[in-house]
Amino acid sequence: MADKRITVGVIGLGFVGLTLGIAAASKGIDVYGVEVNEHIKDCLKKKKAHFYEPGLDSLIMRCSDKTFHVVEKFPSDVKFDAFIITVGTPLKNGEKEPNFEYIKSALQSSIKDVYDGSQLIILRSTVSVGTTRNIVIPLLSEMSGVEKKDVLAAMCPERTLEGKAVKELTHLPQVISGNNDESLEMAQQIFRKMTPTVVVAKSLEEAELIKLYCNTYRDMTFALGNAFCMAAQEFGVDGISAINHANYGYDRSNIAKPGFVAGPCLEKDAYILINNMPECDSKNFILSARRFNESMEDIVVNWVREKTGEQEENKTIALSGMAFKGEPETSDLRGSSSVYIARKLKALGYTLRLHDFVAIKSEMEALELGSVHETIEEACEGASILLVLNNHKKYGSVMYNENFSYENRGLRILDSWNVCTELHYSDDIKIYTLGNMLVKGED
Ligand SMILES: NC(=O)c1ccc[n+]([C@@H]2O[C@H](COP(=O)([O-])OP(=O)(O)OC[C@H]3O[C@@H](n4cnc5c(N)ncnc54)[C@H](O)[C@@H]3O)[C@@H](O)[C@H]2O)c1
Repeated sequence: MADKRITVGVIGLGFVGLTLGIAAASKGIDVYGVEVNEHIKDCLKKKKAHFYEPGLDSLIMRCSDKTFHVVEKFPSDVKFDAFIITVGTPLKNGEKEPNFEYIKSALQSSIKDVYDGSQLIILRSTVSVGTTRNIVIPLLSEMSGVEKKDVLAAMCPERTLEGKAVKELTHLPQVISGNNDESLEMAQQIFRKMTPTVVVAKSLEEAELIKLYCNTYRDMTFALGNAFCMAAQEFGVDGISAINHANYGYDRSNIAKPGFVAGPCLEKDAYILINNMPECDSKNFILSARRFNESMEDIVVNWVREKTGEQEENKTIALSGMAFKGEPETSDLRGSSSVYIARKLKALGYTLRLHDFVAIKSEMEALELGSVHETIEEACEGASILLVLNNHKKYGSVMYNENFSYENRGLRILDSWNVCTELHYSDDIKIYTLGNMLVKGED
């Protein structure tokens, strides 16, 4: 396969499938993608992604109908070298257990008519340790009649960051693993077309674990920052100041700043890691970090309740920063702590006015959490509190507007990422952060 043209099929053109498919197509691989969501297909017909990702739309424009094709089903007259599975692995509704049904159905429906055992199946989705060997390979063996040990299967997890995916897909080392030597060799050929560095995991299980470690490591690192920040306030000390000063000029301290640890991956990957882990202290340690991060949402909700009291006139709240993160910027609302906070406040009877610099208005409206506004000023109309919930760079400058006086409107502002820098220099404005919101006497 080294010098020949490679043809792959991608199943699921969500965030991962579309960015990967386009990155591969831009490197000369022939990519055919299937997707079940009509909205995504409509956007791609117009040569646009259904989400905001820097640099992606211009690549879609460049590759569409040349090396990148969206198809209803994989054509039987095309000789595929590999199929890449990039469907979602969300947590089951209301539970903390992953749902791998999309993977099973991707295998059983999307490739059923074209898979004959000669193509490599690459699992790209994030899964619990053992999923490739115990779920994917037996199914492939059954479908093709090939013995399990000979099935061509690879586990090559995705590690890109939303907002930087286009660049990272051709720069990050790609972790690959294979069910046998031939699978590994084929996976190497494909990923070497895209990136100069591949990391060969010793087993399918190691590759699955590497992905889960990368995200759980981030989750736990942020949990420590959040825990330190909240602990400082138990002593009446500003948590952000304590962290900044502990880190300053001292390389051995790199304590994370407090914030929400959210998004479609971090909200679930620790649970996917511990899903089938036997009971042990490591499991409890990982779980308690995840739960601490989740508790940040309740800390904010309880703060709002305390500040607004029972007075009806205080019950309108402005929320800005609905996407799960602001930097790098994204329109993604999935797994966003801002959305969870909004849901909890709405359930408590608050009226919500929402704003985001990047998130798509119709997607915010579809959440049915409150009215959606073009500007922060407009969202603040009639509100008693403004919650700034992500770290978009614009908060550093646009918040201070001569024509709009937050304090005159009696607003309290919670700058949860400590990013409204210009506002902090204003003597008139009372602004809270996650570092001082619990300190007694702060009002
Ligand atoms: N979003 C990220 O930044 C990121 C990063 C690394 C890893 N991951 C992992 O990658 C996987 C995919 O994540 P995502 O964010 O792209 O999810 P997603 O929900 O955006 O995309 C999955 C897509 O697959 C489609 N789909 C489902 N079943 C299908 C089928 N049978 N045929 C065709 N299409 C089908 C869905 O409609 C959806 O559009 C998950 O396991 C996730 O944890 C995501």
